[in-house]
Amino acid sequence: MLRISEYSAMAEAAIREISLPSGNLDALYSPITYGMQAGGKRLRPTLLLMAADAFGNCPEKAIAAAVGIEMFHNFTLLHDDVMDKSDVRRGRPSVHAKWDDNTAILSGDTMLTLATKKISEVDDSILRPVLDTFNDQALRVYEGQRLDMDFEKMDEVNLDEYIEMIKDKTGALLGGAAKIGALIGGASAEDAEKMYEFGMMLGVAFQIEDDYLDTFGNADTFGKPIGGDINNNKKTFLMVKALANGGSNAQALKAALSMAPSPTKVKTVTRIYETMGMPAVSKAEVAAYSSKALAAIKKTSLSDDRREAFRRLIEKLIGRTK
Ligand code: IPE
Ligand code: IPE
Ligand code: MG
Ligand code: MG
Ligand code: MG
Repeated sequence: MLRISEYSAMAEAAIREISLPSGNLDALYSPITYGMQAGGKRLRPTLLLMAADAFGNCPEKAIAAAVGIEMFHNFTLLHDDVMDKSDVRRGRPSVHAKWDDNTAILSGDTMLTLATKKISEVDDSILRPVLDTFNDQALRVYEGQRLDMDFEKMDEVNLDEYIEMIKDKTGALLGGAAKIGALIGGASAEDAEKMYEFGMMLGVAFQIEDDYLDTFGNADTFGKPIGGDINNNKKTFLMVKALANGGSNAQALKAALSMAPSPTKVKTVTRIYETMGMPAVSKAEVAAYSSKALAAIKKTSLSDDRREAFRRLIEKLIGRTK
């Protein structure tokens, strides 16, 4: 196995080589280039390449699928920033802020199709299970995104409902990336399923950490505005857990939910979270789901040194600031 940074460098190099039509359709394609070339952690293609290498010593066979999975991720971001009214991503104006909503919708649609074409470049012998995995995860992302928006309008959401929602919106894509990589590497159906489980649990930990960083991170390193979730009344891990605690703090939070979006609202809610010790509660939940991810890896037939690479990936994501 290579180092994690070497897999992400492979993904980055392939993404840089994407070539799209120019000319009179520039308004369709240049926002795609803008979105794809803006950096980002490249977590999903990295995971896909690692899985292909772990099972088949063949990361290079998985390059097209890795590009496809990152293209799909970036498509969801174009639409997500419209839905979340978020004007900054990766430290730059998001696509709908730089152009407009219509551009984000249509260039996003185009990215979904380009992603599907890239994924379809796998060997014919595994095309069916790979496309099934890809399409199933995509449906789960849309289902999760729908629930995420529905939850904004609800006074309270319980922890189980929240976990199901983030399994869909974030876990399914990481699960799909790990499983597709495993299939390309020639993993058995059983191992491929365990890798899906690994990606899913990693995704849950990853989203809880994303929720934490949206309130307690640093906008410069995180690349997204702090407090967007609070202003949108998102039922994040912090909000769900804090509301479930009850008492006067939860009452104060409920009152804050009806405030209009403002820096005061963000400050008010952040202070309540701090009083309730929510940062530590959040860290503990991230650790718990990281353990579940590790447990899934241990159930595969991979050797100890190959498992170690995935353990390092978990560790890297737990301590992240971006
Ligand atoms: C953002 O994903 C969307 C979430 C699921 C939280 P990333 O945090 O992986 O975004 P980039 O690709 O690194 O910018
Ligand atoms: C979005 O979750 C997950 C997607 C499917 C795009 P968020 O809305 O929390 O992602 P960010 O914080 O905008 O990156
Ligand atoms: Mg969102
Ligand atoms: Mg968002
Ligand atoms: Mg977020």
